[in-house]
Amino acid sequence: MPKRLTKWLLTAVLLYGCTTAQERKFKQYYLQGQLLYEKHCSNCHQPNGSGLKNLYPPLALSDFLKNNPEKTLCLMRHGLTGEVVVNNITFNQPMPGIPSLTDLEIAEIATYIYNSWGNKRGLVEVQEAERVLRSCIE
Ligand code: HEC
Repeated sequence: MPKRLTKWLLTAVLLYGCTTAQERKFKQYYLQGQLLYEKHCSNCHQPNGSGLKNLYPPLALSDFLKNNPEKTLCLMRHGLTGEVVVNNITFNQPMPGIPSLTDLEIAEIATYIYNSWGNKRGLVEVQEAERVLRSCIE
């Protein structure tokens, strides 16, 4: 077999051979979500999801995140006001929404935060985000 072809085949196997389409999609969403998180969310919630004192609630192992998957998608676009309790600590400071985020971007950010810092939920599909985001109460 020509050397170039062997090399190409090896690369192809390394890139695709051991992963399913679903795993590749997960990785793509996760990496894109990380970039978006760092741009739009990490100032407040911190790069490691720890939050900041009693100002910004944590996302790492947050029970709110775990118990409110639909609200979590909605609040990225529409923001959140009023009292919110996260891991037994009460926060009450408005979070501004980011209306410019698309359904896909919200699915990507959700995939990232739901699978980082000890959180584990798997892929949040864009179709799922679309369905939920249509039903948000502003
Ligand atoms: C300007 C600071 C700021 C930015 C930027 C911000 N948040 Fe928030 N976030 C807050 C505050 C403050 C709260 C608590 C809101 C309240 O008290 O009602 C909150 C609450 C939350 C909650 C629910 C509570 C929890 O910790 O589980 C989630 C989830 C969340 N934010 C995710 C995000 C994501 C994802 C982004 C980026 C798309 C983002 N936030 C951007 C400040 C911010």
